[in-house]
Amino acid sequence: MIIEKKDNFRLDEMSIPAPLRPLMGDFQNFVLLRNTYHAAIREVSTKLEILDDEFRVRYDYNPIHHMECRLKSPQSLFEKLERKGLDIHMESIYKITDMAGVRVICNYIDDVYAVASLLLQQDDIKLLRRTDYIKEPKESGYRSLHLVVQIPVFLSDKTELMPVEIQLRTIAMDTWASLEHELKYKRSGGITPEEEEELKACARAMAEVDRKMEKIHKAL
Ligand code: GTP
Ligand code: MG
Repeated sequence: MIIEKKDNFRLDEMSIPAPLRPLMGDFQNFVLLRNTYHAAIREVSTKLEILDDEFRVRYDYNPIHHMECRLKSPQSLFEKLERKGLDIHMESIYKITDMAGVRVICNYIDDVYAVASLLLQQDDIKLLRRTDYIKEPKESGYRSLHLVVQIPVFLSDKTELMPVEIQLRTIAMDTWASLEHELKYKRSGGITPEEEEELKACARAMAEVDRKMEKIHKAL
């Protein structure tokens, strides 16, 4: 399994968008908070890696194809605070549950649910929110299992309970989501209704591929 970490964990003051600067009266606190989110990402990804390794040894099978970890960039944090109508304030950051993100790409749909339930049964993980866009895909055709969990991070003087957003999906779901995102953001005017329908049809085709591949996998 490969863990790909988006290169956005480092932070320098220059990369902070101007509207976020008021927050920077608390610059050290902001850096500390980001550090704690980064630690939470490592806690979660290590747990997932341990599960995947155990599966390899016990069953000669890896349920996780790969993982991607990302910490929300200051720019996208700012955009989200604005979109949600939240003040530029340290307190507001606590209302954002996807500062820390882990994407888990599995081989099959079964693996998605198996990995999620094995992770959630661990004592120190608390489920805050679960949205199953596999059972009920989004209007766009998007499918994935989203979990927001809370995990303790042990610091020198306290223990912080940090939220981490985990997106679990199959390779097919990931292919669709990546390309759809790329297509939608490529054109500033967005895509036409016809293109949107085409993308939905692609999402259905991908779902069909997932079902067929899983059937073959189970038969073997
Ligand atoms: P946000 O405020 O945008 O986070 O909305 P939300 O809290 O309702 O979250 P939601 O469950 O919609 O999922 C947010 C994340 O899921 C996004 O940041 C994407 O990574 C992913 N996602 C959700 N919908 C889509 C979609 O239609 N296409 C793609 N490519 N990704 C999506
Ligand atoms: Mg979200």
